[in-house]
Amino acid sequence: MYVPNPIPWADGETLGQNLATRGVSRREFLEFCGGLAAVLGLESFYVPQIAHALENLKRPSIIWIQLQECTGCVESVIRTAEPTIGNLVLDLVSLDYSHTLMAASGFAAEEALQSAMKANKGSYVLVVTGSVPLAENGIYTTIGGRTAKEILEEAAEGAAAVIAIGACAHWGNIQASNPNPTGAVGIGDVIKGKPVVNIAGCPPIADVVTATVAHFLTFGRIPDLDAEGRPLFAYGTRIHDQCPKRANYDAGQFVEAFDDEAARKGWCLYKVGCKGPMTFSPCPIFMWNSRTDWPIGAGHPCIGCTERNFWDTMTPFYGRLPGVAGFGVESTADVLGAALAIGAAAGVATHAIATGVHRSRQGKAEKEAQDGQD
Ligand code: SF4
Ligand code: SF4
Ligand code: F3S
Repeated sequence: MYVPNPIPWADGETLGQNLATRGVSRREFLEFCGGLAAVLGLESFYVPQIAHALENLKRPSIIWIQLQECTGCVESVIRTAEPTIGNLVLDLVSLDYSHTLMAASGFAAEEALQSAMKANKGSYVLVVTGSVPLAENGIYTTIGGRTAKEILEEAAEGAAAVIAIGACAHWGNIQASNPNPTGAVGIGDVIKGKPVVNIAGCPPIADVVTATVAHFLTFGRIPDLDAEGRPLFAYGTRIHDQCPKRANYDAGQFVEAFDDEAARKGWCLYKVGCKGPMTFSPCPIFMWNSRTDWPIGAGHPCIGCTERNFWDTMTPFYGRLPGVAGFGVESTADVLGAALAIGAAAGVATHAIATGVHRSRQGKAEKEAQDGQD
């Protein structure tokens, strides 16, 4: 597990100066910026601009509130196996409130939240994990005697940007699945008047969180989003269209049971329930555990955890999606939509939009970088 370096951030110090104090060379920093540009879909031409913006940053404030959730998203973001400069960037922001990660508790913790919001009003980044239970006046999640809704509305008011991490904050997740006894909703249903970036997944990939925060810090605004509020640089492409088992799918080579010869050969998991054909996520590219593996790579079907309502629309998880076998590589979500389950129709329409938008992602990303430069 990565252990943060305790070197403090001096008053007025920039990120570049602090990284130098930590022994991070200019070359290593530029390599990180190059990787970040690639993740964001930008040409290497923009690396100097990213480096310039990041190294001149003064310590930005992040407030991370946790509502109706399991803490898995916090674990996902902090549990990387090796220190990267991405970790250091997140270390070096001023994480002014996170009730899992901070030493304070009780009144001291809640006072830290109030002080951070007051001191950084209008400039802090609000990160939220967890859904908001609205039933019974919100009694299903309270912190310090206040409901999740009250806490969220107050914290969102002074935020420069709002980032929802995980399926719970995105749309409510399992607690919002049928019959949703606590009236759980995603934070986008509560926050009005400002966009919410949804880093989808249960949990999402830490690198996408790092890249989204770094994008905001570099360009001063959130990245382009799809209709679900997910950053297009990460969620613009279906898993099925990036999957290393796609050749097996196209060749009709399918696992029929988890212990059969096809499973041992690593063939396509479509017939044992893979939802990759209707799931938009960068899992095959970013992967997990220092980019060593991911669910499909480990032989388990994708259950569609980056998609809204996946507990209701993607189940049974080991049941085969109806009628998508045989479409070619250029299949769009529109085409798939005709064959998929009726319950998932709304999500498929969203995918069609996202697929179309993705095709112009590169052009948009370049324009975005240009705007940031102007
Ligand atoms: Fe836990 Fe998943 Fe919710 Fe994250 S999205 S808090 S991992 S249930
Ligand atoms: Fe990969 Fe699943 Fe598509 Fe097969 S069905 S190619 S395992 S995403
Ligand atoms: Fe989730 Fe599927 Fe990726 S289950 S972690 S979107 S492979």
